[in-house]
Amino acid sequence: MSDKKEAGKLFPPTEELKKMSLVGGPEGYKKMYEESIRDPPAFWEKMSDNLDWFSKDWDSVFNWDKESGHFTWFKGGKLNVSYNCLDRHVLNGKKNQAAIIWEGDDPNETRVLTYGELLTEVEKFANVLKSKGVQKGDRVSVYLPMIPELAITLLACTRIGAIHSVVFSAFSAEALFNRIDDCASKLLVTTDGGYRGGKKVDIKGNANEALEKCPTVKDVIVVRRTGADVYMEEGRDTWWHDEMEKAPKKCEPEKMDAEDPLFILYTSGSTGKPKGVLHTTGGYLLQTQLSFQYVFNYRPGEVYWCTADVGWITGHSYIVYGPLSAGATTLMFEGVPNYPGLDRFWDVAEKWKVDIFYTAPTAVRMMRKTGEQWPKMHDLSSIRLLGSVGEPIDPEAWLWYHDVIGGGRCPIVDTWWQTETGSIMIAPLPGVTTLKPGCATNPMFGIEPLVCLEDRTVCKPGEDGRLFIKKPWPSQARTIWGDHQRYMDTYWNVIPGHYFTGDGGRMDADGDIWILGRVDDVISVAGHRIGAAEVEAAFLTHPAVAEAAVVPVPDEIKGEAIYTFVTLKDGYSESEDLRKALINQVRKEVGPIATPKTVQFTTGLPKTRSGKIMRRILRKIAGGGMHEDLGDVSTLAEPEVVDVLIKGRIL
Ligand code: WT7
Repeated sequence: MSDKKEAGKLFPPTEELKKMSLVGGPEGYKKMYEESIRDPPAFWEKMSDNLDWFSKDWDSVFNWDKESGHFTWFKGGKLNVSYNCLDRHVLNGKKNQAAIIWEGDDPNETRVLTYGELLTEVEKFANVLKSKGVQKGDRVSVYLPMIPELAITLLACTRIGAIHSVVFSAFSAEALFNRIDDCASKLLVTTDGGYRGGKKVDIKGNANEALEKCPTVKDVIVVRRTGADVYMEEGRDTWWHDEMEKAPKKCEPEKMDAEDPLFILYTSGSTGKPKGVLHTTGGYLLQTQLSFQYVFNYRPGEVYWCTADVGWITGHSYIVYGPLSAGATTLMFEGVPNYPGLDRFWDVAEKWKVDIFYTAPTAVRMMRKTGEQWPKMHDLSSIRLLGSVGEPIDPEAWLWYHDVIGGGRCPIVDTWWQTETGSIMIAPLPGVTTLKPGCATNPMFGIEPLVCLEDRTVCKPGEDGRLFIKKPWPSQARTIWGDHQRYMDTYWNVIPGHYFTGDGGRMDADGDIWILGRVDDVISVAGHRIGAAEVEAAFLTHPAVAEAAVVPVPDEIKGEAIYTFVTLKDGYSESEDLRKALINQVRKEVGPIATPKTVQFTTGLPKTRSGKIMRRILRKIAGGGMHEDLGDVSTLAEPEVVDVLIKGRIL
């Protein structure tokens, strides 16, 4: 095999780790995994004891109508997510244990919410939602930064059966509008502003702008965070603290069906419109809780820190639902890695004696670049496990993370999953798996991966292909809000009955899975999924733009960055000012995370004779490829455009 990665160093589990393993080490995992694949419904039925149910009266654990793509897990069973995340722990002696440790952007600002306190806040806010007329099944949009009220809002929604839709707080007004409009939310929870790296950021201004076009939103509840002077609309906007003061302290949890919707989370796909990924109650909670326990091998009393934002699925599943359902202590961080100093992460880790640290490869690469002196300033001996998520981690970054942050003693769990999968699908387990730097390794219980070529033949070991997962699992998204056909076409109709991940993958001779990145037109900037079509659409909203094509280019820190080719309409000519204006347009339409790194003006784009833009060729050109690297270009409508593009390339 020519793969140099596979020639890399191996890290087998130590005897000590094997003894600690919650699944009973390599043999335990093997036995449990085989059982989960032999008879998934029986396996998950047994696992369902990990949740507290009001009733377990499901007719069948799993039901699947392949034709329509509708499937259910535990349908007929009744439970409540907030009850499982809070009440049951309070009743089991964890009332005074920290549920959320919150560390502000300013290191002097911290807050600890015990399970008892968090439950009271959640019950009160659930009553606030009810007082505004929010009912089971209604949508509540949430546009909040990383403050405890964000977790409180989500759990309060689950208490009464409202469906939450979190919109990342750094998304633009336009992105917020689209996400409110698509699911017709009744209420929005937001804030007067946020703090990032010591600076105030506006949030209410964006919310106000979006709400001008959102007639379905009748009420807006605003957390006072920065004290900024913001416009509050009479009869629509009220302050969180005023509402909470009036709210009764007790709110019975709604008995939800396992298949009732839990939340919508929008994610980018390969066409323009973001997809409202819908997750349901029972299967999602069960699988996030279990994966949290097993992948991080969580033991009671440990402090667990995931650096993601709750605006993404990682934060939903592994800051809020997984850890809280498991009765863990979860650290929620409002700040950034470089404020007030470049040692901020390590300052926080030392201060709270963090046991488990879960972050993104982008952050690791950035830390590696800024140097070892920053982590070396702190005692990181409390850390016993490291995690990675969001994009492939290159072996160099992996080894640095392992040696410098983990002191050579901590396993790294490289967790592969997606917004749609709800929970971790492929990851090493501590004390079980032999680690390979850069490799996601083994499937989780109940998950059967498959690597296929485009013609559907199954790949041989070592052969690159596309990654699928056989059959639905409990935490799998059930549909795309309002567009089940798109759900079917994107995920289930590529190979009928198998879930298409959109990622490339390879199974090596040991049966371990390597993730090779997206095979569709989705760009991963710092681990955030951005649809090429969404950015192109943003360019086209500018009057000067005739055509735009967006492709990824490798980026040392962010993994990928956005490179754009733009042709202008007649009457417009290229200039630095126009370039800046176009970049601003994208920031405004999509948000700052989609800021293009490069805009190359051109007179034409490579197209097939039927007019389809050949992004494959543009990718190579943007990446520095020469004419001979591009393969056959003779099928292009105007092959000469290739040399123009190469000549005008901005490296
Ligand atoms: C895409 C999903 C779910 C976590 C946050 C991102 C990429 C995710 C890994 C990993 C290689 C990874 C894939 C996937 N990805 N984890 N460990 N190794 N690639 O969620 O926004 O839904 O993006 O992130 O390309 O398809 P998301």
